[in-house]
Amino acid sequence: MDKLLIVGGKPLRGTVQISGAKNSAVALIPAAILAESTVILDNLPELSDVAIYSEILTEFGAVVERKGDQMIIDPSSMRSVPMPNGNVKKLRASYYLMGALLGRFGEAVIGLPGGCNFEPRPIDQHIKGFEALGAQVSNEGGAIHIRAKELRGAKVYLDVVSVGATINLMLAAARAKGVTIIENAAKEPEIIDVATLLNSMGARIIGGGTETIRIEGVDSLHGCRHSIIPDRIQAATYMIAAAATRGDVVVDNVIPKHLEAITAKMLEMGIGIEEMDESIRIIGRPDYDPVDVRALVYPGFATDIQSPMCSLLTQANGTSILTDYVFSGRFKYIPELIRMGANIKLEGRSAIITGGQLSAADVQATDLRAGAALVVAGLTIPDGITTITGVEYIDRGYDRLVDNLAGLGAEIWRE
Ligand code: UD1
Repeated sequence: MDKLLIVGGKPLRGTVQISGAKNSAVALIPAAILAESTVILDNLPELSDVAIYSEILTEFGAVVERKGDQMIIDPSSMRSVPMPNGNVKKLRASYYLMGALLGRFGEAVIGLPGGCNFEPRPIDQHIKGFEALGAQVSNEGGAIHIRAKELRGAKVYLDVVSVGATINLMLAAARAKGVTIIENAAKEPEIIDVATLLNSMGARIIGGGTETIRIEGVDSLHGCRHSIIPDRIQAATYMIAAAATRGDVVVDNVIPKHLEAITAKMLEMGIGIEEMDESIRIIGRPDYDPVDVRALVYPGFATDIQSPMCSLLTQANGTSILTDYVFSGRFKYIPELIRMGANIKLEGRSAIITGGQLSAADVQATDLRAGAALVVAGLTIPDGITTITGVEYIDRGYDRLVDNLAGLGAEIWRE
């Protein structure tokens, strides 16, 4: 089993390039299923989730080719074969196969998704949406069976604001008969990215990025070429790592607007920030103020960033409160930070963090963003070696993490 080793305490300096967004890529790849001809995705991140998704598409009969950061998907010879087990269980985002296969073939059998299981993550809103479009859905032995004689547009009000359900319904509705309206839709930039791809394929979607999305179904969709948006979560992680090590780093190839919630919090802590058109410079300072952070749906502070943010808050002079209103159980990394000497108390869905020096320890990443939190924490510790296991989680969402951090002057290596 691989592990990461870190000797921290060195201020990060230099420029880091941010790859395409994981959460877009894992929706755009299955979205390509809806086309009848070749889809080319540019700016694809180098991640294990992306590699697994490409294998899944080939298992359905698609021809998939990787050329550098490009993926060429020819879905013309695909079929909707049942996939109750195997690769689909390795990914959270395999749920997008349900909407995409339903939209193209009118049926899908997909094993319930795996991925980061920091708490039970229901997909009832996805299913409610498929049923509203006229599909019959059943759970048979841990696999979701979905079938529709004909998909018909409908009005769907999501009970919870869900990224996955919003995208899945856009996928299914893109080729349904008539108009689908998604109310209380999620507004994350990745949703706009998926709507942009689908529209380039010939779909008629308006309102992506707002709480009401209107999809006018079309009979067929065609191939196109699309460049994936930058990964705002990876970008925010490097911003946090730069600040936590009192470094000076330009995070390049980002859309600063997507990072507003994090830059606002960092400014409140007293961290120096310079915003350019496509990059953000983080200038670390010796002292940081404690702040209260609430993880919310977009455009609020992203839940995916609350774990690395928690590590940064251990560097503040005083007590901060970090509350996650999206996932109440996304705190499994906290016992590991405590093992590194952090002063953190967990109360319900809030972590109460009192700043102080951390110390090197052997810790385990329990999910993707937990892994990022431990890396940030390790980078602040000058004495001893921090050892992080569970690296396979980190590989799911961080493109060339070790190379990028080493390029910024960090002493980090993989064994
Ligand atoms: C996506 C992201 C994940 C991010 C999350 C919230 C991908 C592949 N993953 O996950 O990185 O942390 O958005 O920004 O893009 N819920 C229900 N029923 C449902 C669906 C969701 O109750 O049918 C609840 C969830 O338990 C959670 C909340 O709604 O409390 C938001 O979840 P959702 O936005 O769906 O997250 P994911 O799409 O799984």
